[in-house]
Amino acid sequence: MNAVMEKKVSLGIIESMAPAPAPSLKKVYETKHLNLWYGDHHALKDINLDIYEKEVTAIIGPSGCGKSTYIKTLNRMIEMVPIVKTSGEILYRERNILDKAYAVEELRTKVGMVFQKPNPFPKSIYENVVYGPKIHGVKDKKILMEIVEKSLRQAALWEEVKDRLHENAYGLSGGQQQRLCIARCLAVEPDVVLMDEPTSALDPISTLKVEELVQELKKDYSIIIVTHNMQQAARISDKTAFFLNGEVVEYNDANIIFSNPSDTRTEDYITGRFG
Ligand SMILES: Nc1ncnc2c1ncn2[C@@H]1O[C@H](COP(=O)(O)OP(=O)(O)OP(=O)(O)O)[C@@H](O)[C@H]1O
Ligand SMILES: [Mg+2]
Repeated sequence: MNAVMEKKVSLGIIESMAPAPAPSLKKVYETKHLNLWYGDHHALKDINLDIYEKEVTAIIGPSGCGKSTYIKTLNRMIEMVPIVKTSGEILYRERNILDKAYAVEELRTKVGMVFQKPNPFPKSIYENVVYGPKIHGVKDKKILMEIVEKSLRQAALWEEVKDRLHENAYGLSGGQQQRLCIARCLAVEPDVVLMDEPTSALDPISTLKVEELVQELKKDYSIIIVTHNMQQAARISDKTAFFLNGEVVEYNDANIIFSNPSDTRTEDYITGRFG
């Protein structure tokens, strides 16, 4: 057995788990010749990557290779860093979001983000979830309560918190706080959910819950997840992109990346030989 096959077995990947060929999936994002510089540092180099609707796309690669930078360009959070310059295009639903004429507020209502560290607001569970909808002008208490229940159910948190909605979110465990942040993100009914290492601060049980949740959510949302956990990427993603030094080395169906990668650098990374 070669190293990839061994890894494949240890990751529990069997052919029957491979995603069935997708029937003409729509593209959510098309990244075309994207370059990004932090001052003189060329952090993303000629990225060409299409992201498909209602799939889980995992971004993997060693620390510092540009994973967070890339997903932060997808909701233009990156422009909060003043020294950043970009070239190329990112089409979201066929419109170039890097065009300054594209209203960033409009983009952010469509593209939600969940961070590595759970970051609930220092408010009640209820207030965390209704925060976005209230900003969007929803005032009706009955509708807000419906949104709270729906979002918390989608985030697999409802049963655990339904009797303590008005308690402070800081009283929740880390795993619960992360699911609350996911609920807060879903409450505005985004199209895409970006997740930057959402389980790296969680214990194995909470991690599993979030992974199951991601699988559920892809029925309704397109999900892009950065992870350092190879098992996780193999388990939950439909497509996987391997980044190295700001470049996409390989991008393919996850079962191909994890069983039969075409680049030796991908093979070295997923088999733990570097990174
Ligand atoms: N605000 C910033 N200013 C300057 N350089 C930055 C900034 N943010 C990131 N970089 C640099 O850009 C490169 C890519 O960083 P990025 O955070 O995207 O990596 P990453 O793949 O997410 O790493 P990790 O796995 O450690 O989170 C690194 O060399 C980093 O030092
Ligand atoms: Mg990162």
